[in-house]
Amino acid sequence: MDCRSLRSPIISLLISLTFTCAAQAQQPPSSHIQSLARAAGATAPPYKNTALPVDQRIADLLKRMTLEEKATMLSGSGWMESAPIPRLGIPAIKMADGPLGVRSWVGSSALTSSSSNPMRVETTAFPSGIAMAATWDTALAQREGQAIAQEVKALGRDMILGPTVNINRVPPWGRNFEGYGEDPYLAAQMAVAYVRGVQGEGVIPSVKHFAVNNQEFERHRVDVKIDERTLHEIYFPAFKAAVQQADAWSVMSCYNKVNGEHCAENAYLLTDVLKKEFGFKGFVVSDWASTYSTAPTVNAGMDLEMPGGPPAKAMLARPQAQEQGSSGTWLTADKVLAEVKAGHITESTLDDNVGRILRVIIISGLMESPHTQLGVVDTPEQQKTARDGATEGIVLLKNEGALLPLDPNRIHSIAVIGPNALVARTGGGGSSKVQPKYAISPLDGIRKRAANKIQVTSALGVGMEGENPAEDTPEARARDLKEAIDAAAKAEVALVVVGRYYKNEGEGFDVKTMDLPAGQDELIAAIEKANPHTIVVLNTGDPVTMTKWLDSTPALLDMWYGGQEGGNALAATLFGDANPSGKLPVTLPKKFEDSPGAKNYPGENLVVHYDEGIYVGYRYFDTKNVEPQFPFGFGLSYTTFEYSDLKVTRGTNKSPGEVSVTIRNTGKREGAEVAQLYVHDGHSKIDRPAHELKGFRRVELKPGESQTIEFDLDHSAFEYWNPATKQWTLDPGTFEIQVGASSRDIRLKAPVEVPR
Ligand code: BGC
Repeated sequence: MDCRSLRSPIISLLISLTFTCAAQAQQPPSSHIQSLARAAGATAPPYKNTALPVDQRIADLLKRMTLEEKATMLSGSGWMESAPIPRLGIPAIKMADGPLGVRSWVGSSALTSSSSNPMRVETTAFPSGIAMAATWDTALAQREGQAIAQEVKALGRDMILGPTVNINRVPPWGRNFEGYGEDPYLAAQMAVAYVRGVQGEGVIPSVKHFAVNNQEFERHRVDVKIDERTLHEIYFPAFKAAVQQADAWSVMSCYNKVNGEHCAENAYLLTDVLKKEFGFKGFVVSDWASTYSTAPTVNAGMDLEMPGGPPAKAMLARPQAQEQGSSGTWLTADKVLAEVKAGHITESTLDDNVGRILRVIIISGLMESPHTQLGVVDTPEQQKTARDGATEGIVLLKNEGALLPLDPNRIHSIAVIGPNALVARTGGGGSSKVQPKYAISPLDGIRKRAANKIQVTSALGVGMEGENPAEDTPEARARDLKEAIDAAAKAEVALVVVGRYYKNEGEGFDVKTMDLPAGQDELIAAIEKANPHTIVVLNTGDPVTMTKWLDSTPALLDMWYGGQEGGNALAATLFGDANPSGKLPVTLPKKFEDSPGAKNYPGENLVVHYDEGIYVGYRYFDTKNVEPQFPFGFGLSYTTFEYSDLKVTRGTNKSPGEVSVTIRNTGKREGAEVAQLYVHDGHSKIDRPAHELKGFRRVELKPGESQTIEFDLDHSAFEYWNPATKQWTLDPGTFEIQVGASSRDIRLKAPVEVPR
C-alpha cells in the first residue's frame, strides 16, 4: 500500500496510532482500515467525510461558510495561488504555469526552498504542443500530461495552467507552438489525453484559453467577430471534448473580446456554452488580469479571478502592466460583498462559484492532502517521455534520393550549421517557457551520436536576428557565412538548422513575418550551393516561407520546438535509429497571403472578423483548391505503407459507420504510420468543407507486417452545426469515407449510408 494514498488526515492520524508507514509489513487488514475510516467519518463534519458524495460535502461546506469567506474565494491570494479558508481547512490551490512543463517563476507565490529562499526551478522541458500534435499519439500525450503532473506535485503545487488548445488560425500567432494545430478533432483528442494524464495524478489542469485566442496582437483589447457555427465546429470542440470526454476540472478564459464582450465576462461563452451546453462542472479561472468588472464578471460565470491579493495588485498597478492593458483586480472580497449587498450578485450565484472551486478541491483530493514538496523532478522516465515526444513529433517533409537516413558506417564527416544548430531552442517565449536542467542542441545530439566515428564540424552561418546586436556587423556576417560555406564544402553532408527562438516567437506578440529571420534564407541557399547533400531542419512553431530554397533542398525535416531532448531526437532521426512518423498538424502554406485568415488578420480598429468562417487550414486549402507547400497530415517515413481493404459497414443508429482498413509496411524498415479518416459530405443542405478529419490511428509495423485498424464513427462524425436551429444536425444520406496518409493523399474511399 502507498501510504500517500491515505488521503484523509483523520484516517492517517488514526492509522498512525497503530502502525507507521515505514512498518509496511505490519499493515492492518483492510477491513480494519475501513472501520477506522467509518469511525472517522462518523465524528468528522460531513464535508470531511470522504465516503459521502461530493455534492453533499460541498453543500455542507457552503452551509458553514460566511458570506465573507465565500467572497474571499473568488479572487487569488497571490500570483499563483487561490485563497485558502484555514478555519475550515480549505486549502489554497497552488498553481504552476505550463503547459509544456512546469515553468520557473519568481515573485509572489514563487517556489521556496526549505529555508524559504526563492528556488530556481529546473524541470523537464517537454516538446511544444505543436510537436506533440505532430505525433498524433494520444497515449504519448497522456504520458506527457502524467509526467508534468508528477513534477507539479513534486514541487508542492496542485494545478498546471494547461493544456493550450486554441486553434492555429493564422501563421503569425505567437503561441501557435503551444497548441495542437489547426484541426479541431486532432486538438480535441490531444487535449483529452493530456487532461486525463494530469487528472489521473490528482493534479488540476486548466484547459485554455476559452475561446478564440488566436492572435497575440492586441490580445487584451481585440474583439473577435465570429459566427456561432464557426465557434462550434472549429474553436469549441477541443474545450468541449476536454469537458465531456475527460471531465476537465478547470477551464481558463482568455483576454480578448468575443462578439463585443471580454471573455472573462462573456455569459454566452462561460454560462450558456461551457456550463450549460457542455455541462462543465469545474471552475472557470480568468486569464491573468483579464477581468474588467465585478458583478458582470461573476454573473457571466467567472468563478476565480487570477491573480489576486496584495502582491498581484502591486504588480498590476505598475505602468508597464497598465500599458499592456492589464486590468487590476475586480473580484476581491470587498468588491464582491458590496455587489452582493447591493443585490447585483445573488447568494446562489456566489454558492455556485464557490461550490465549483470546492468541487475540484474535493475531487482532486486536495481537501485531504494538498501536495507538499515530496519528490524529484526531471527523472529518467520524464526525460524519456520528453525524448519520445520530440522524436515522434519530427516530420520528414522531403527526402530526395533517399539522402536520409545517414548511414553511420558510411558517412565520415558532417557540418552542422545555423543559428539553431549550436543552441538548444527548446520552446517559444512566454508563460510556457520552462527552464530545464539541461537541453540538447542539434550539435550536442549529433556529436553524441557520431561518437568519435564521424567528424562533426560546426559553424554559426548567421546569428539569430536580434539576439546579439553588438556582434551583428557586416564584417561579422560575412565572416560567419564564409566559415559555414567552408565547413559545408569540406564535409560529406551539411545540416542547416534554421528557425526562430523565444524572443521572436512567443506569447505577447505575433511573429512579424512568415519569412525566416534575417539571413537564414541566404544561408540555406549558400550551403546548398556549397554541398549538394544538404539537409535543412526547421526549428520553429510557426510556419515559414520556403520558396526561396526548397526546390534545391534534397532533405527537409521539421523538428518544431522539441523541448530539452530535441537534439537527441533529431540525431536519432538523422541516423535512422528512429524512423520519422510525425505528420503535420497544420497546413504549411507557400506564403502568408495563401492562408485563409490572412485577409482578416490582425483586424482593424481593434476588431478582427473571422470571415473565413469554418474554412480554417485544410478545410480551406482542400475545398478551394489552393496548393499548400505541404498539406495537413503529411509526413514521410524511411519506409512505405500500403493501404488496402477499406470496409465500411452501416452500423446501428448509435454507431452509423464502422470502418476498417489494412495498413501494411511495404518497405525495409520498421516504422509507424498515422492513418487518417476524413468524412466527405456531398449532399448536405448547407455549405461544408471538402472533407473533415474524424478519426486517426497510429500503427507501428515491422517490415512486411500488416494490421487491420478500425474506426467506430458516431453521429458526430457526420454532423454540422446548424445556425438556423442552433443544433448539431445530420442530413441523412450517402457520405464518403476517405482514408489516407494526409488530407491530400487519400488512398481509399467508400460510401456509407447514414440514417437519421
Ligand atoms: C497567459 C496564460 C498563463 C497566465 C499565467 C497569461 O498571460 O495567457 O496562458 O497561464 O498568463 O502566467
